Amino acid sequence: MSSIQLRTSIPGPRSQALMKRRNAAVVQGAFHATPVFIDKAEGALIEDVDGNRMIDFAGGIGCLNTGHRAPAVIAALRRQLDRFLHTSFNVLPYESYVAVCEKLNAMVPVRGPKKTLLVNSGAEAVENAVKIARCYTRRSAIISFEDAFHGRTYMAMALTSKTHPYKAGFEPFPSDVYRIPFGYCYRCSYSLTYPSCKLHCAKQIEDTFKRVVAAESVAAVIAEPIMGEGGFITPPAEFFPTLAEICRRHGILLISDEVQTGFARTGALFASERLGFDPDLLVTAKSLGGGLPLASVTGRAEIMDTPQVGQLGGTFAGNPAACEAALAVFDIIEKDNLCDRAKRLGERFGKRAAKWQSQWDLVGEVRGLGAMQAIELVRSRATRQPADAETKEVSQYCYEHGLVTITAGSYSNVIRLLMPLVITDSQMDEGLDVLEAALVQVAEKKGALAALPV
Ligand SMILES: Cc1ncc(COP(=O)(O)O)c(C=O)c1O
Repeated sequence: MSSIQLRTSIPGPRSQALMKRRNAAVVQGAFHATPVFIDKAEGALIEDVDGNRMIDFAGGIGCLNTGHRAPAVIAALRRQLDRFLHTSFNVLPYESYVAVCEKLNAMVPVRGPKKTLLVNSGAEAVENAVKIARCYTRRSAIISFEDAFHGRTYMAMALTSKTHPYKAGFEPFPSDVYRIPFGYCYRCSYSLTYPSCKLHCAKQIEDTFKRVVAAESVAAVIAEPIMGEGGFITPPAEFFPTLAEICRRHGILLISDEVQTGFARTGALFASERLGFDPDLLVTAKSLGGGLPLASVTGRAEIMDTPQVGQLGGTFAGNPAACEAALAVFDIIEKDNLCDRAKRLGERFGKRAAKWQSQWDLVGEVRGLGAMQAIELVRSRATRQPADAETKEVSQYCYEHGLVTITAGSYSNVIRLLMPLVITDSQMDEGLDVLEAALVQVAEKKGALAALPV
């Protein structure tokens, strides 16, 4: 029996009525990928307020690697509800905060003794990583990458690349932030080709130290191992080891922003492991809390302990319910072997997507690691002109047919997959059937259904 069950067209009448109320009461700046209001969810399935059952390939933007309402998360939350909900760790500490930090210290691929700080969101974790890096190095400059996304607070915006909708109109941003090209081979900023480029992009930071900002002024380089909002840009294998070696040589800290890549998504607990580097600081959020807001900064103990007593924290930071949920998330990842599951899901997608790429001119590139997979759509493979309108149409077709997807990319032309890793094979296949039908429809409409040479 199919998982998708539609009772109304989507959005249905109740969703439409709620959208009217939403538009009257809620700021337009808070965007939705779909105009569908949810009623309940379980695993990789959601049911909307009109009784339509849909498959979720978005997972709350990568927050639900362990699935909607994972039973162990719900049980942990129920236990916590009967104890206490909030004290502020800055007033009365509790064990679960400490236990989450101990676990993260054991899991995170940073070398040597480690310590962890808990906060509420990815952006807040990024802010704190920058504070700690500056405090430790006594340097001020931060380098980030083209196509990066690090959040919506001011420092995080400064580190973020895409102008619309994230930055435009909100200027000025905090200073002493510099941006360099990433290992985005499909759209190489130097018009070079891998591997004959010999990793020019990663090495070019040495030139930045001569022409833009002195190495001894740089506190940290911050990078997503795989760019999330940027379009799941997956750099070549040597990119991060090369960058890490250069940073180390200059006493610059390397911050790995694993907010989107973390917690089994790429087939390892953290993508830094898969990409062969160990950062000095590692930032997480999203799937850490199993659906509750929780984020962390973990790093070398000597770095993390530079800020003095009272210099870090926040009223809700490391909320006890979210900490209990995180402890359950760690257990699920291990017991259900979600790293391995992510690899299998990636392979399942890869087989289908390879066929799409060989057939249709619309599919420019298929890329990713583990279950962090995406397709970049182009008007034509020869020009690589981003197919942004077509990407929107694919996404719309998907939700109208019972599949929730989200887009990404500096050119808004990437469909990315962030389904819960607990999705079943048949749900995954059914979701991919919808995505395939969407691609066929959009490609046909554009007359771009390939007549690619076999
Ligand atoms: C890599 C990365 N860093 C930071 C953030 C910001 O996280 P939050 O939305 O929890 O503030 C995001 C959010 O998508 C992200 O993908």
